[in-house]
Amino acid sequence: MQQPRRHINILKMSKEYKRTLITTALPYTNGPVHIGHLAGVYVPADIYARYLRLAGRPVTLIGGSDEHGVPITLKARKEGVTPQDIVDRYHKLIKESFEQLGISFDIYSRTTSKIHHETASEFFRHLYDKGEFVEAESMQLYDPEARQFLADRYVTGECPHCHNPRAYGDQCEACGTSLAATDLINPRSTLSGAVPELRSTRHWYLPLDRWEPALREWILEGHKEWRSNVYGQCKSWLDMGLQPRAVSRDLSWGVPVPVEGAEGKVLYVWFDAPIGYISNTKELYPDRWQTWWKDPETRIINFIGKDNIVFHCIVFPAMLMAYGDGFQLPDNVPANEFLNLEGDKISTSRNWAVWLHEYLADFPGKQDVLRYVLTANAPETKDNDFTWRDFQARNNSELVAILGNFVNRVAVLTHKYYEGAVPPAGDFNATDLAAIAEMEQLKTSLTAKLEDFHFREALKDAMGLARLGNKYLQETEPWKLIKTEPARVATVMNLAVQICASIAIAMEPFMPFMSERMQKMFAIRQLRWDDIARTDIVAPGTVLDAPELLFEKIDDSAIDAQIEKLNEAKRKNAIDNWKPAPQQTPTTIDAFGAMDLRVGTVLECEPVKKSDKLLRFVIADGMENRTIVSGIAKHYKPEELIGKQVVFVANLPEVKLRGVTSQGMILSALNADGSLSVIGPLKKASDGAQVK
Ligand code: MF3
Ligand code: ZN
Repeated sequence: MQQPRRHINILKMSKEYKRTLITTALPYTNGPVHIGHLAGVYVPADIYARYLRLAGRPVTLIGGSDEHGVPITLKARKEGVTPQDIVDRYHKLIKESFEQLGISFDIYSRTTSKIHHETASEFFRHLYDKGEFVEAESMQLYDPEARQFLADRYVTGECPHCHNPRAYGDQCEACGTSLAATDLINPRSTLSGAVPELRSTRHWYLPLDRWEPALREWILEGHKEWRSNVYGQCKSWLDMGLQPRAVSRDLSWGVPVPVEGAEGKVLYVWFDAPIGYISNTKELYPDRWQTWWKDPETRIINFIGKDNIVFHCIVFPAMLMAYGDGFQLPDNVPANEFLNLEGDKISTSRNWAVWLHEYLADFPGKQDVLRYVLTANAPETKDNDFTWRDFQARNNSELVAILGNFVNRVAVLTHKYYEGAVPPAGDFNATDLAAIAEMEQLKTSLTAKLEDFHFREALKDAMGLARLGNKYLQETEPWKLIKTEPARVATVMNLAVQICASIAIAMEPFMPFMSERMQKMFAIRQLRWDDIARTDIVAPGTVLDAPELLFEKIDDSAIDAQIEKLNEAKRKNAIDNWKPAPQQTPTTIDAFGAMDLRVGTVLECEPVKKSDKLLRFVIADGMENRTIVSGIAKHYKPEELIGKQVVFVANLPEVKLRGVTSQGMILSALNADGSLSVIGPLKKASDGAQVK
C-alpha cells in the first residue's frame, strides 16, 4: 500500500515558547454575558487555548469575574440589596453559562476572593513603597448629607451641551457627550438628593508619563506585528502624551487602599481587575504561578474587546514594569471590534442583546451552532452584525448541508457496505492523492491562521475539509461502484473516514461538542493536531458507532420567536424612553422650513408582500398621486385608513422598501405603550395643502 507523504510541519512560530498564559477580560458582574462578549473575547480565546492543547503545548486559560466598580454599587442600590448579593448572583450565572458553552477555563475565579484582595493590596503596597505613585489633592463632589464623596455616576444634573435635565456625572445619554461631574448644571447627589459641594480629597496616581519611553519602545518598535487596530490605538495614545492616572477612588466597595489614613478609599477597579489575572493564576497554581508570569519563556496573550485596549497595552504594562521583579508583559493583545445585533449596538441597559444563559435555554444542545456563527462572523477587523436570519442560514446551509451531511453520508455508507467496520485502503489513485494534498494544504493554512489569531479565516479552512469530503464523494461515487469494484470502494471509504477524522480534530477548537460526538462515532481515541490530514488516523477494522445526525435544521418558528423577543425589547424601550417632555436640542425655524409637510388622502392601502410591518399607500397629493410605504401594519388595518387624510413628508429622497419605491413618509405619534397613531388634519384640508 502506498503511503502518502507524511505531513511535515513547515510552520515556523515567530518564537518558540515553553508555555502560553491566555487571559480573557474579566467580565463585570452587574449583568449576564451576551453574544458581544462571546464573539469579542471568550470564543476566540477558547479556540486558541484548545488549539494549543491539541498541538501539545502547555497552556493555561485564565478567566474570572470583575466584581468591583461603581456600576455594581448602583445596581445594588437600585435593587435594595448589597453589592455582594449582585456579584454573587451574576458570578454564578456567568460561570455556569461559560461552562455550558464549553469555554475551557483552567480557572474561573473572582475579584472578591481573599487571594485577590491580598494580591491586589500587596501590588499597590509594593508600588507605594517603591515610590512609584505620586499623591495629589483634587477637588471632588461630596454629598454633605450622605457624608461621602460621589463617584461621577452618583451625580445627576443638567447637561451643559444639550440641557437634558437628567445627565449623569460621567456622560449625557441624550447627546452622548462625555462629562465630568463638575460640568453639570444644578448637580444633585443621587444618594440623598443634596446639592453636592466640592471638597478636596487625596489620591494616588500612577505617573504613566514616566513609562512613556519604555512603552513606546516596547509597543511601537517591538510589536509591529500586533493587529492594526490595537497598534493604532496605542500609537495614538502615546502620541497624545501620557498623563498620571488616579489609581484610587473614594468608595466603599473594592479593595481598600492599604495605606494609613486612606479610610474610605479603595483601589480603582481598573487597577485591581487586571491584577485579577495574577491572583487567579496564583489560586490555580499556588506553588508555580510565578513561572507563568515571570519566566521569559512564558508567552502571555490577553484576549479583550477594543474598549479595553488602553488598559491592557498601556496601564497594566506600566503597572507591571513599575512592579518589576521579572513580571512579563503580554506578547500579544488580539483585541476584537464590536458585534452589533440586528443592525443596532448591543446594549445591556436597553436589553438589546442575546444573553448567553437565555440562548442556552432556548437552544439546548446547540452550543456549537452559536460558537460557529460567532466565529464565522467574528468582528476581528471591523464591527460586525449578528442577525438571527444569518444564524439560521449558517446552521441550515453550512452546518447541516455541508458538514453534517458529509459526516453522515460516510457513517451511513460504512454501515451499509461494511456493517460499520472501516475497510482497508488499497493503492491511492490520482483523485485520492489530490484530495490528500488538499487536506494538507488546508491544515497548513488553518494552522497558520490560528497562530495569527485569524479565527474566522481558520474556521473557513476547517470547513474546507468538509467541502473537500463532499467533493471527494461526488467525484468517486462509491455507490455506483460498490457492485463492480469493491476494492476501489474500500479505498474510497477508508479515505472518507480519514477525512472525517481530520474534521473531528480540526473542528475541536471551534465546535468541541460536535468533535466529541465525532470522536465517539469514529472511535478516535486521542486527538493530536499534527494528525490532521493523515490517512491512518482510524485503523482498518475499527467498528464505527451507529451514524447520528450532527446538526439539525433550525426552522423559521424558532427564529421568529427570537426576533419577536427582540421586538418586545424594542417596544419596551420605546415605552421606557417615551418622553412627554419636549426635546431639549434647540432647532431653528429654517430647519423646520426645510421639511415639506403636506396633507394627502389615502386612495389605496394594502399590505406589502412578505412583510408583517409594511403597508403600501397611494396618496392623493394634489398633484399626480404618490406611493408611500410605511411601517405601521402592526397598528392599522388598511381599511381603517382608506379615505382618511394624513400628513406626510413630501421632499424626502425616494427609497425602495421590499421592492416598492416609497416617495415620502407618513407621520405618526409614538404613544407611551409603543403603539402608533397616524396624524391627520382636524378638519378636511385640500390634498397637497402645506403644513406650516
Ligand atoms: N470588566 C472589564 C470590562 O468588562 C474588563 C476587565 S479586564 C481586566 O470591560 F483586565 F481588568 F480584568
Ligand atoms: Zn447632553
